[in-house]
Amino acid sequence: MAGGDILVRSISIDDAVDFNRLVGVVARERRYLRFLDAPSMDRTVDFLRESLAAGNPHLGAVVDGELIGWCDVCRHSFEIEAHVGTLGIGLLPEFRGKGIGKALLDMTVAAAERLDFQRIELTVFSDNRRAIALYETRGFVREGVMRAAARFGNEYRDVVVMARLAPSLQSEAALAN
Ligand SMILES: CC(C)(COP(=O)(O)OP(=O)(O)OC[C@H]1O[C@@H](n2cnc3c(N)ncnc32)[C@H](O)[C@@H]1OP(=O)(O)O)[C@@H](O)C(=O)NCCC(=O)NCCS
Repeated sequence: MAGGDILVRSISIDDAVDFNRLVGVVARERRYLRFLDAPSMDRTVDFLRESLAAGNPHLGAVVDGELIGWCDVCRHSFEIEAHVGTLGIGLLPEFRGKGIGKALLDMTVAAAERLDFQRIELTVFSDNRRAIALYETRGFVREGVMRAAARFGNEYRDVVVMARLAPSLQSEAALAN
């Protein structure tokens, strides 16, 4: 990190351009995300504006003033799923494997649980070992595999569904089983 300090802070609408650029870099790797390029700027601005207005946690990792990673949890819109959020995370390639993702995930999950998200779920490609290892150490459990749910050109990939229940729900789930 060239000696730069890492700052984890909330993302605001003012970060839309940098957020869009960051998401685009990770998407174009065609290995980690469900989309293959950045959304348009208009879509990014709309997404951020609506999600921030809904109170969803959006955190960013900043190194030397540059936004190099994001993690967010977006609440589901149906009333019966209002306790559920979907998590997204990504870092620029050169900042991976240095513990930043772990710090960003921990802070985002803590923020989400303070906001009463009781179930945080995500999907991850089955060959994304680093992400799966990180999620497992943070209390996310594999719930199933959607076989061949993604196709990149001629290559089909399996998608793993994972979720973490807030401590209050973990005891309820344990009682029900
Ligand atoms: C997934 C991602 C956010 C993880 O962040 P990171 O900063 O690279 O990960 P960390 O350095 O914090 O490592 C977290 C854990 O991952 C595991 N890990 C790290 N490097 C690994 C590797 N090369 N292979 C397997 N596991 C690895 C370890 O369990 C590590 O915990 P430990 O340090 O206590 O052993 C980041 O790698 C990334 O942006 N990847 C591309 C985008 C992506 O996959 N997003 C998720 C889509 S579902």
